[in-house]
Amino acid sequence: MREAYIVTSVRTPGCRRSKGAFANTRPEDLLVTALNGLMERSKGVPKDAVEDIMVGCAFPEAEQGLNIGRIAAQMAKFPDATCGATVNRFCASGLEAIALQAMRIKAGWCDVAIGAGLESMSIVPMGGNMPRPHPEWAMENPDVYISMGMTAENVAKRYNITREMQDEFGFNSQMKAAAAQEKGLYTEIVPTPAVSYVYKDGKYEKVIKMQDFDDGVRKDTTLEGLKKLKPAFASTGSVTAGNSSQTTDGAAATLLMSEEAVKKYGLKPIAKVVGYTVAGCRADEMGVGPAYAIPKLLKMFGLKPTDIGLYEINEAFASQAIYSAQQIGLADKKYWAADSDSRIINVNGGAIALGHPLGCTGAKLCAQLMTMMQKKGAKYGVESMCIGGGMGAAALFELCE
Ligand SMILES: CC(C)(COP(=O)(O)OP(=O)(O)OC[C@H]1O[C@@H](n2cnc3c(N)ncnc32)[C@H](O)[C@@H]1OP(=O)(O)O)[C@@H](O)C(=O)NCCC(=O)NCCS
Repeated sequence: MREAYIVTSVRTPGCRRSKGAFANTRPEDLLVTALNGLMERSKGVPKDAVEDIMVGCAFPEAEQGLNIGRIAAQMAKFPDATCGATVNRFCASGLEAIALQAMRIKAGWCDVAIGAGLESMSIVPMGGNMPRPHPEWAMENPDVYISMGMTAENVAKRYNITREMQDEFGFNSQMKAAAAQEKGLYTEIVPTPAVSYVYKDGKYEKVIKMQDFDDGVRKDTTLEGLKKLKPAFASTGSVTAGNSSQTTDGAAATLLMSEEAVKKYGLKPIAKVVGYTVAGCRADEMGVGPAYAIPKLLKMFGLKPTDIGLYEINEAFASQAIYSAQQIGLADKKYWAADSDSRIINVNGGAIALGHPLGCTGAKLCAQLMTMMQKKGAKYGVESMCIGGGMGAAALFELCE
């Protein structure tokens, strides 16, 4: 089989739903910025070389609906010949889009393609504008439609992940993100126009400001402060706003190529897409998905958990991220703590601090992973996340020499 190479991988900042910089920015515009930023950083690759743009989106409707893959391709001024599609695997949608493009390249069906992700949680609410569960089936099988927060509570209760453990994990996520922001480590970010409307002289004026940082990071977070937060989903529960992923707006994009195309454009790729897998689990504890998907992936390629130099495990909730790390054999805090030099999991923080823009997340984590694999010279990187409905996804990348 041929190789599929990642040449460039970028993201917009992640900004807080409703309270953040992109609350009034249309999702199409976020995606267009990511796509154009990607092509600007891929010097020498003309837009007409891109055969297809596949976009992951968890709630592909309204402003981010129809076929946002094709619409964004046209808005970003790719030629008519560049196609576009939308894919949905909830929180893994962006990674699914990258993996599907990698598979097409490996199969020899395509040479140059983009895998991307998008979600405006400000504009399209989680659950969509009009959720319509099947009435009779849902009465007997409510778990597939269960609130994600309740699945995090189930994981915490069933596997003894205490409030203290979750808050400590959340605190570390914030500390890692604050330090990375301070050091300017998120070099995959493309400055993105953020729209707001200002009332002046009897009418609203559109104001555009460039946003170049993730606006959910709280560097003043303390363990004492986290302890005081009330449970967000169950009155006697342990899952709070401080140990859950933030709801966020953002877009991200990755350019993939065959070896022939890499040579044709004289590029130095970042990494190879080695493999991708998904694994199912119970819907009412969907957060355990990575605990199944990561071991399945590593087994496929004959690797041990400690062979992997860097992990991005989406922090949908601290409870499931901790449990997943425990289950893959990386329970020790040294693997994720902000003050540990041996940390390999979410080294620059995760969704608790940086946000989780659902369908964008898989593409966003890929961009973050590519940056850090390069900076640290990590041979192997794994990206994984849990998925609503009861699944996990995981992908393996290998740094190019
Ligand atoms: C948990 C959740 C309901 C909280 O929503 P929210 O109330 O809008 O959350 P916010 O981030 O605005 O935080 C609310 C308050 O908690 C407090 N807070 C949050 N993080 C804090 C921290 N690190 N330290 C101290 N206080 C904190 C603040 O008082 C904050 O209010 P402020 O923004 O006005 O300062 C929401 O983030 C959520 O649903 N997350 C999970 C999303 C999800 O299910 N995704 C899919 C996963 S599969």
